[in-house]
Amino acid sequence: MDRIFSGVQPTGDLHIGNWLGAVRNWVALQERYDTIICVVDLHAVTIPYEVATLEVRTRDVAIGLMAAGIDPERAILFVQSAVPEHAELNWLFTSVAPLGELERMTQFKDKTEKLESIPAGLLCYPILQAADILLYLANKVPVGEDQLQHLEFTREISRRWNAAYAPDAPYFPEPQALLTPAKRIVGLDGKAKMSKSLGNTVGLLDSPDEIWAKLRPAATDPARVTKKDPGNPEICNLFELHRHFSSPETIAEVDVKCRTAGWGCLDCKRRLADAMIETLAPIRERATELKRDSAGVDAVLARGAERARAIATKTLSETKRRMGFHGAR
Ligand code: TYM
Repeated sequence: MDRIFSGVQPTGDLHIGNWLGAVRNWVALQERYDTIICVVDLHAVTIPYEVATLEVRTRDVAIGLMAAGIDPERAILFVQSAVPEHAELNWLFTSVAPLGELERMTQFKDKTEKLESIPAGLLCYPILQAADILLYLANKVPVGEDQLQHLEFTREISRRWNAAYAPDAPYFPEPQALLTPAKRIVGLDGKAKMSKSLGNTVGLLDSPDEIWAKLRPAATDPARVTKKDPGNPEICNLFELHRHFSSPETIAEVDVKCRTAGWGCLDCKRRLADAMIETLAPIRERATELKRDSAGVDAVLARGAERARAIATKTLSETKRRMGFHGAR
């Protein structure tokens, strides 16, 4: 059976970009694949973060995942720092990680732009991501488009390690990405990728009022200055969101009313808000329930870490044995 691994950082609440681009796919895939989902807190400390809230943010992201439908009985759901083998395999992989490629990573360049002093962890971030995936010998990685470069790097690590330590038959797989049609959701500014750090998101657990407050000022077709100007849904980011949240009838109606200036943008936004509120309501309700029982959630994550470790320790032992470490069997 194919094995899936994917991860999400606890840098803030999950947003609809995470959900449409990745999480919703994980929920569907867990039915068919051996699925491992990780809240990657070790990755989250590579940029400045708030110590006091890391633990609760980590739990909240796990709650969001469960509320969205990750079933911890079926999939393994755990927190990265609870499985120390991630950090150890990360170190072993530094021996085959090409520095030049790390320096060329788009996300590294983007994130370091704003920093005066660059932590080495930010540079080495993709090595840890490769360790996450390969620790479970996962061959499929469902992600959004922004992770493709990191995944290519993972394949590079796999090839280099295999060439050095498993020349006869590859030990680590070369994992493939699984993308969805929503592989790059644009933020409400209509410009950049939806991302917590840019403040252009709708939270997966936002209240109806919060959703409306965010959609109201959202960017639309820039050529539509007044209500009377006909618009072009193909270049309107909100039409793209309608495609993911609204019924086929509403989508068809929006298309006509936009092109003929039958509706103003606010009318269109109201329909989108209603569809979003309705789609996300069950997730929000489940999350509210789960938040009442944080000890129960922690127990689920501890059990997930145990199951993950059972696989991780085997891969790590085999890796160390092949690398010739003293006492590795
Ligand atoms: P992260 O936490 O930024 O995002 C989690 C997942 O959500 C996807 N995503 C999006 N998809 C479409 N449109 C968007 N606007 C959007 N924003 C986020 C991401 O592509 C991702 O799939 N480096 C990873 C975490 C990670 C990981 C891993 C992933 C660590 N180890 C191993 C896969 C395998 C990250 O920062 O994702």
